[in-house]
Amino acid sequence: MKPLRWHALLAASLLLPAALAACDDLPGRAEPSPRASDAPHGSATPPPAASDVAASPLDGRALVEKLECNRCHAGTNLPEVPQAKHCFSCHVDIADGKLPETAKDADKASVPKLLASWKPRVVHLRFTPSLAGVGTIVRPEWVTRYLLAPHDLRPGLHATMPRLPIDDREAASIAAYLASAAAPSPEQKREVGDVGRGRDLFSQKGCAGCHVFTGARTEPPPPVKPTDGADRALAPDLRYARERLIPARVADWILDSPSIKPGAVMPKQRLSRQEAIDLATFVLEAPLDAPVAKLAASRLPILDREVGYDEVAEKVLHKICWHCHAQPDFARGDGGPGNTGGLGFAGKRVDLSTYEAIASGYVGADGARASLFSPAASGEPVLLAVLLERQREEQRGTYGPLRGMPLGLPPLSPEDIQLVETWIAKGHPR
Ligand code: HEC
Ligand code: HEC
Ligand code: HEC
Ligand code: HEC
Repeated sequence: MKPLRWHALLAASLLLPAALAACDDLPGRAEPSPRASDAPHGSATPPPAASDVAASPLDGRALVEKLECNRCHAGTNLPEVPQAKHCFSCHVDIADGKLPETAKDADKASVPKLLASWKPRVVHLRFTPSLAGVGTIVRPEWVTRYLLAPHDLRPGLHATMPRLPIDDREAASIAAYLASAAAPSPEQKREVGDVGRGRDLFSQKGCAGCHVFTGARTEPPPPVKPTDGADRALAPDLRYARERLIPARVADWILDSPSIKPGAVMPKQRLSRQEAIDLATFVLEAPLDAPVAKLAASRLPILDREVGYDEVAEKVLHKICWHCHAQPDFARGDGGPGNTGGLGFAGKRVDLSTYEAIASGYVGADGARASLFSPAASGEPVLLAVLLERQREEQRGTYGPLRGMPLGLPPLSPEDIQLVETWIAKGHPR
């Protein structure tokens, strides 16, 4: 299981002063501040509430199509994506030992060998929450904020929601599209039960077998293994429930989630209505410990030894990155959103599959080719800057103009970053 990550900078505007103080000693502080239009989203500059901007469900639908949300999510109401495009179904098939549908006859002979090499590498991208019925329980304003500044919600899930190229108005329109006219308003009164009884029921009824509830001092659930099913991997950290959910819906959800969200992965619970009300009250009102500020990840010194391209490729680029920065072939569908484009990105032509491809650089904002080793705004070579930026995004819960990499995945370890940094510092030898 990935370590429990903390994002309450985002969650609790109350903690803003502490958050800003904690930022003082961050490496990011020395950077030039982003342009106004690029201001990081999150606690420091909360995006406008959905009602402040002209949100349109029709625009939202067009955006969901353009940004290809259905390559990762079921339940978008758009036609299904073919396997060669579907980030998760292709990985699931490979994990199940099935051949990608795009395989040509010429490739088929080598498939058993190839499957054996891919299988251990795709274990993490197997589940995503369905968006069907999200609007019947989740508040539209929360969806808007989350799309602009996503954070880790599900401790058992390796992948996170990537930060896609959208602005405030577009995020609000997507939230309006996902909203449900049948949902009670967030202001509607809910039945209030007893927090103490809810706390007892939480352990008696096995809720803690699936859910982390950070800060509520419940027993921690056993860690999720890659072989566990969707019902454990997709269980949200209940710390966010109070900002995320429509309160009047929570007891009904706990009692019978499939009646609220079609295909909900949380199994139906054996509970009385009063028990569900007590549990909902516990989830929405339990006192929470203040979040523990996340320390900046350590930056390790350049290694003394030689580091060649093969080692960087094996430990980092071919393990995590190249799939979004690939050369299209039957096993990997297209060249990926970071190379040929997709998920609303135009495609910066960053191909990380070979030494030569990396040496050929990428296409910058002005349309001209630039080197991946030339400095980014932070002064670090671009290839290193994106890795450090992802660490900062995770630590602060806010986003700057540069997109941290790997997009939609946890940051690389300090050791892996050290390896890349050493390779670049030594003149990125072959
Ligand atoms: C590359 C895959 C990927 C793409 C593309 C993607 N998502 Fe997600 N999304 C995820 C993952 C993974 C999660 C769960 C993250 C977590 O819980 O920590 C998620 C979570 C969400 C959630 C929260 C749902 C819930 O019940 O908690 C919403 C809403 C959402 N995505 C909407 C969208 C929309 C709208 C788009 C297109 C604009 C989109 N996503 C595109 C991977 C993706
Ligand atoms: C046609 C099948 C296919 C499709 C479609 C596909 N993948 Fe992959 N993916 C693979 C294979 C095969 C690997 C393993 C590659 C290797 O290691 O040689 C992989 C590996 C990965 C990895 C590294 C594994 C890990 O767990 O960290 C990431 C990240 C990834 N893919 C992201 C994506 C994203 C994002 C999309 C959608 C934009 C996508 N993939 C679509 C087949 C696919
Ligand atoms: C077998 C695992 C499992 C058990 C046991 C379980 N849940 Fe869940 N729960 C989930 C999953 C998975 C989801 C997300 C479902 C989805 O979005 O389709 C969820 C969602 C929720 C949500 C909505 C949270 C949010 O932020 O969206 C609440 C509240 C909740 N569960 C409370 C409970 C309570 C209370 C219990 C004990 C009575 C319980 N759960 C037992 C797996 C479980
Ligand atoms: C889920 C897909 C995905 C994964 C995984 C991923 N990238 Fe990217 N990458 C992208 C996209 C999309 C862009 C274009 C971003 C933009 O246009 O702002 C990009 C851009 C980049 C850039 C150019 C940065 C810039 O904005 O100028 C670099 C460098 C990069 N990625 C390196 C990496 C490295 C190194 C890894 C692995 C540690 C990685 N990427 C993993 C999708 C991904």
